Amino acid sequence: MSSKAASFVEAIASRRTIYSLKPVLPEKVELKEVQQIVQDIIKHTPTCFNSQGNRALALSGESHKRVWDHVYQTLPLEKFKAKPLAARDDAVGTVVFLVKDSKTKELQERFPIRADIFPELIAHSSGSAQLSTWTALELLGFGANLQHFNDLILQALPKDVIEDDWSVQGQLVFGLPAAAAGEKAFDENEVPLLV
Ligand SMILES: Cc1cc2nc3c(=O)[nH]c(=O)nc-3n(C[C@H](O)[C@H](O)[C@H](O)COP(=O)(O)O)c2cc1C
Repeated sequence: MSSKAASFVEAIASRRTIYSLKPVLPEKVELKEVQQIVQDIIKHTPTCFNSQGNRALALSGESHKRVWDHVYQTLPLEKFKAKPLAARDDAVGTVVFLVKDSKTKELQERFPIRADIFPELIAHSSGSAQLSTWTALELLGFGANLQHFNDLILQALPKDVIEDDWSVQGQLVFGLPAAAAGEKAFDENEVPLLV
């Protein structure tokens, strides 16, 4: 394998879910760098028919705390509150992934015969951006975990930075790793080479 491809695969293999975080930045890392990484990933992640409906916000400081406090306060059941509480108090920031739903609608109107498949394809593209961001932030020295309190997060986002037709797809919580990832079991699903 070329060394660039090997480094890429190594980065993918080293990304893990890190729940145990501290609310500080890795040494020599600034929030501006996180913002630039997310912006570049959103720009370069492919979308179906190049519809470019991916959007993202990078939250830290009070914005991060306000959003997670809203999720924590609003969730009805105690047993679901641990992750929002940890996000609010232990993480340094959150990348919120959104999509512009009117772009999905436009595709459905252009290609009515495939209308049913577009929400799924749009979600695939957001997922690609989420995974790239997760991997990139961990290469930068962060630990991160992916959450899905989508509607509650949307309620708490400042209305002047989002548009009416955006919906939340997921949110990546990041901070300085305070403990290693847990054990992970792998299924060995061999990829046959058919020639
Ligand atoms: C599409 C997707 C959705 C996920 N949703 C959540 C989630 O809502 N909450 C959570 O704590 N982890 C979530 N995870 C993290 C997975 O549980 C985790 O990636 C998996 O256990 C493998 O562990 P690893 O990330 O350390 O490789 C999600 C992961 C993926 C890929």
